[in-house]
Amino acid sequence: MESLIREKDFNEAGKGSAEVKNVLKRLGIDPAILRRIAVASYEAEINVAAHSLGGAMLSHIYQDRIHMIFMDNGPGIADIEQAMMPGFSTADEMVRELGFGAGLGLPNIQKNVDALHIVSEAGDSTMLEFLIFFNDNGQ
Ligand SMILES: Nc1ncnc2c1ncn2[C@@H]1O[C@H](COP(=O)(O)OP(=O)(O)OP(=O)(O)O)[C@@H](O)[C@H]1O
Ligand SMILES: [Mg+2]
Repeated sequence: MESLIREKDFNEAGKGSAEVKNVLKRLGIDPAILRRIAVASYEAEINVAAHSLGGAMLSHIYQDRIHMIFMDNGPGIADIEQAMMPGFSTADEMVRELGFGAGLGLPNIQKNVDALHIVSEAGDSTMLEFLIFFNDNGQ
């Protein structure tokens, strides 16, 4: 599955994640695992809308796992380690007024996924991908 994420389009942002959630629900994925996927996916999707020039998300559903990829058109993350710290945010006024910008999205993604990989640098695009397994032991 694939869906576009437009810059600062908070009416649409979240729809790609909702669509994936609906498909997984129909597949009968365990509700606790489904919740983890929904949280990680939503936070990653909102980040692309809030902090980038726009991008896209891709979901690959396998028998035992989901692999989700979020790519955007920059401007990138200068220091990924710093961005991962709870409370760190560069969200602008508009984004904060909408209730985002607590600096908790990336830590929340980290907490909910089985594997996380971020590739980015200042002035470049950001690629965030994660894996979540469908059974409880994370394998
Ligand atoms: N796709 C992205 N492109 C550029 N910068 C990003 C991207 N995703 C995250 N960041 C940077 O990482 C910071 C931390 O992200 P995180 O999701 O943890 O917090 P936030 O989005 O600022 O606030 P919250 O998620 O709590 O609403 C962001 O403020 C931004 O500086
Ligand atoms: Mg965020």
